[in-house]
Amino acid sequence: MKEYVPFKSGKVRELYDLGDSLIIVSTDRISAFDNILENPIPKKGEILNKMSEFWFDFTKDVVPNHMISIDTKDMPEYFQKPEFVGRSMKTMKLTMIPVECIVRGYITGSGWEGYQENGKVCGIELPKGLVECDRLPEAIFTPSTKAPVGEHDLNISMEEGIEWVNRTFPGKGKEYMEALRDLTLALYKKCADYAFSKGIIIADTKFEFGLDEKGNIILADEMLTPDNSRFWPLKGYTPGQGQPSYDKQFVRDYLKAHPGDSLPEDIISKTVAKYEEAYELLTGKKFLES
Ligand SMILES: Nc1ncnc2c1ncn2[C@@H]1O[C@H](COP(=O)(O)OP(=O)(O)O)[C@@H](O)[C@H]1O
Ligand SMILES: [Mg+2]
Repeated sequence: MKEYVPFKSGKVRELYDLGDSLIIVSTDRISAFDNILENPIPKKGEILNKMSEFWFDFTKDVVPNHMISIDTKDMPEYFQKPEFVGRSMKTMKLTMIPVECIVRGYITGSGWEGYQENGKVCGIELPKGLVECDRLPEAIFTPSTKAPVGEHDLNISMEEGIEWVNRTFPGKGKEYMEALRDLTLALYKKCADYAFSKGIIIADTKFEFGLDEKGNIILADEMLTPDNSRFWPLKGYTPGQGQPSYDKQFVRDYLKAHPGDSLPEDIISKTVAKYEEAYELLTGKKFLES
């Protein structure tokens, strides 16, 4: 049996190169306050992989995406080991457009900080009098550079984005940035409205796009998971203050009270239950382990 070694190990995911396609494996690792915790959250990787699968399917009429299969039978034998089953996605291998396509429907995080300084987020003027975590009248596209390893992503305006993309794809900056903006807003609208109807606010999220060999723009990476988005419970949503995180609140509260500790069993099981709950609310299906 051919063995595979990941060509990239991210904080949470591992990527394998199959030549003309990729395998993206979501582990059970969890980050909080920008650190990877020592305790994994059992099932997290599988639940998030299946959440991405749901969204890719839900939006395939908006834009084509890179998903080929999450069935390990469609992957080399090596990936049929239990440790990969359920948590792996075979995808197209794309040439990535180096922009993080961030969309915000609510004002929080760095957006809220920028707004307090000058009433703007990424150069976009917002109405006066917004409070923390307010819903925006309309979702906004606030891209950032996808910086090389070791450098920070930078928030950029549309104009800066065009110049940035032109560096990698000469002459294509305007066409690509406008397409990414329109796709990002359309994807967010469809998915955030749907999630809201199921009791989950998607306050903001990030999409990544790449090009296939014909030059078509394809949605890539993971999609609308609590790891690349802010999910808030709709129940109890109160603008004017920070909101609880849908999935990580137990972990954050615990670590605030016990900095540096490893997580006790009940915090882990309550967190697993939140991931399962989000999956079930969004997909309408019980989470069944593979
Ligand atoms: N279909 C794809 N083809 C090529 N690269 C992809 C594809 N989908 C996602 N990627 C890239 O794979 C990487 C996933 O790595 P990740 O663990 O998220 O770390 P980071 O975001 O820090 O680079 C990202 O660089 C992302 O742009
Ligand atoms: Mg990433």
